[in-house]
Order: sequence, then structure tokens, then C-alpha cells
Amino acid sequence: MKLIAHSPVRPFHYPQENPVLHCGKVSLETLARRHGTPLYVYSADQILERFRLFQQAFAGRDHLICYAVKANSALAILKLLASHGAGFDIVSGGELERVLVAAPQAAGRVVFSGVGKTAAEIDRALEAGILEFNVESETELELLADRARKLKHVARFALRVNPDVFAETHPYISTGLREHKFGIDIRQALRLYQGAAGNRWLQPHGVSVHIGSQIRSADPFGAAMERVNKLVRQLNSSGIVLKAVDAGGGLGIDYRGGSFDPAAKVREYAAAVQAALEGFEGRLLLEPGRFIVAQAGALVTRVLHVKRNGNKTFVVTDAAMNDLIRPALYQAHHEIVPVTPRPGRAHTVDVVGPVCESGDFFARDRKLAPVQPGDLVALLDAGAYGMAQSSNYNTRMRPPEILVEGSRARLIRRRETIADLLAPEMLAEGR
Ligand code: LLP
Repeated sequence: MKLIAHSPVRPFHYPQENPVLHCGKVSLETLARRHGTPLYVYSADQILERFRLFQQAFAGRDHLICYAVKANSALAILKLLASHGAGFDIVSGGELERVLVAAPQAAGRVVFSGVGKTAAEIDRALEAGILEFNVESETELELLADRARKLKHVARFALRVNPDVFAETHPYISTGLREHKFGIDIRQALRLYQGAAGNRWLQPHGVSVHIGSQIRSADPFGAAMERVNKLVRQLNSSGIVLKAVDAGGGLGIDYRGGSFDPAAKVREYAAAVQAALEGFEGRLLLEPGRFIVAQAGALVTRVLHVKRNGNKTFVVTDAAMNDLIRPALYQAHHEIVPVTPRPGRAHTVDVVGPVCESGDFFARDRKLAPVQPGDLVALLDAGAYGMAQSSNYNTRMRPPEILVEGSRARLIRRRETIADLLAPEMLAEGR
């Protein structure tokens, strides 16, 4: 069986002299022995490499890459990206607190998206002096104006417009159609900007879009930006000059490895976005998440049992849907490779976790290299929306996270303990 972890798009590989899966120079077997399983492992080098692809592709113009914190919100990763100049796209007060802890110097490089910001979240962001609020409704704009006036902080805002562009992706993560809850109908935007222009506490700073996630083609991004550019021109002629256009995130990766060239992808994406923005001289903001962190990460898990039911073979791992929910939620494909390959034929199996739901699977009818109980396997491309979407379902402790930088592996989050999980609970009132 071809072991696709060898693909140059991932930091995971089998060195010839020691054919055990490594992240950079660090053996996953060693990490699993030291930290137990399941375990998330990320390559800092690849995260930075991907981040730099965006920086390079947009180097010709004023831009800021606001990494989408929701993809992977580990403090150490936020700190790493901030130290290389990243800004951040946040969608909650909690994500803002993460940025303020990991990289307080980056507060002025934060854009705040999301359809339901509360007054408390807005206040905290105003006080922190974030770059821009991406406002998603008329009533949110009113709330923002109200909070800004009360706190005497001028709020820089962008309207997140809904460009009504179809982006081919999973329906749960497509966001740019009028039928979705996101953004403001682009036809209403001009009126709202004009209305806000007279309010001294609101500064029309930009316009933003985000049409969805895991979008593989550059075309829908171009189409959305063309509509945005048209709005920018209309605003110009009515005397409202925006400083920034926020193109959102959404650029997809190839979860099957394939012949994917990340650098070429980012260049193609950058070309489409910039061509559509012709004539706009201001700053370009971008909110990539998945593209930067997905392929840098793997979830390492141990095989507990191999069992046969009828004619099906189930490989039961110690990781479950609570650790990585993407296969259960979106029927997402994650490659699964052995950490220490054994000789022999691949078998068709289901790879499942111990949670008591039939939806708790990582792969169905998948050809998997031979494995036995006790073996380690790695679920690849798990760096984005893996740990970030994990839960404690079945009272399972969430896994630790390791960040590998060259030959150094650093524990950036310890495994949860039962005490962590039970701490907020009370058996009786007041106790
Ligand atoms: N900006 C906004 C406003 C967003 O809503 C998102 C993602 C991003 C940026 C980053 O998008 P990215 O570059 O990562 O595609 N849990 C799903 C993905 C949900 C994406 C939600 N919004 C998954 O595991 O596929």
C-alpha cells in the first residue's frame, strides 16, 4: 500500500533509516510513549510555511492575514503566528480572550466576525481596540453604535455582505448564499453604510465577505470579490471611502493528498481575488484558517481491538468522535496511516471509536494497511477543526497537544483530567 503520508504536502513522513512515522525530526512512537494516546501533533514549521505562502502571494499590496482562530485556537499556535505578523479573525469573546493572552500586541490586528455578538463581547473588543467589527445585521450595527457611544470608543466596522455566490462545498460550511444566515444582503449594504456615515461613533472601515469553507476552486472567490468591488465603487461615488476589503477565509485543501501543490493553490487564489479587486487601493484582509493548520496536524491513536462482525472488520481506536468529529459531522475523509507499518496486505475495514453511537467512525470500508491491537495509527490533516471542535462527550478527557519545531517537541496542552471535567459541577446547591 502506498503510504501517502510521504506526500510533500504534509510534515509527516517515514525516514528511510527509521521507518516510523515522524513529524519533522520527531518520532510519533516516542511522543505516544511519552504522552499517551490519543494525542494531537502539529508541525510549527508547516504552519509557518503555509502562513508565508499567503504573505508571499499578497506581497505586492498592503494586506493583513487574519488567521481564523476557530480552526485551531491553541494559545501556542496563536503566539507563533502573531510573532510572524499575523492578525486574527475571531468569532466570540472567548476567542478574543485567547488572542489577548497569547498575543496582546496583536489586539489591533483582530477582526471580529459572527452573526450574534453580545453587548459584553462588543464592549470587551472595543476596549481592546480591535481593528474591525464585521457586522452581520442592521440591528448589530445599532448595538455596536450604542456600545461605542456608551464606551466613548469609535468602532471601526465593515459590513459582512452576502454576495449570493454559490461555492461548491459541504452544505454545512457553505455560507455565501442569500438563504444562509450569514451577512447582510449586498443590495442593502449601500443604504446601511450611508446611514452609519452620520454617526460619530461608527467609522465605515471596510467591507467583508466569507462565502464558505473547504472551497477548492478559486472562481467563487473571484466572483464574490467582483460583487464586493462593485459595492466599493458605489460607496466611493457616494463619498464613503473604505480603507479595507476583507476577503474572508475558505480556501480548501486536498484531504486525499493527491497531487496538491499548496503554493500554486494560494497563488491562484491570490490572483483571482486581486484581479476582481482591480482599482481598489486599500488594504486587503484575509481570514484563512484550514489552509494554514489542517495539514500540519495529525491525531495519533492506538488500536484497542480488531473485531469482526459478520463480514465486516472493525478497527477500534482509543480516539473517538469527541476528539475529531469531522467524519461523523461532514462525512469528511481523513487519511489513516500506521505509525509503524507492518508487512502484509491492506484490508477493508471500518475505523471506529469507543463512543456509543454508530456515527462514531473515522472511516468506513477503507483499505487500511495491516494493524493489530496495540499499534498506533495517525489520522492525517487533523490540524484544523479537530481539537477545536472536540468535546467531552461520554466524559472523555480531551487529548494533549504537541507542537513540533525542528527536532524539538513541546507539550502545548496537557491531557485533561477527570478533575478538570468535574470542577464546574455541584452535587447539591452551594456545594
Ligand atoms: N472567516 C469566517 C467568518 C469563517 O466563518 C470561517 C470559517 C473562516 C474565516 C475560516 O475558514 P477556513 O479558511 O478555515 O475555511 N468545521 C468545519 C469548517 C467550518 C468553517 C466555519 N467558518 C470543518 O471542519 O470543515
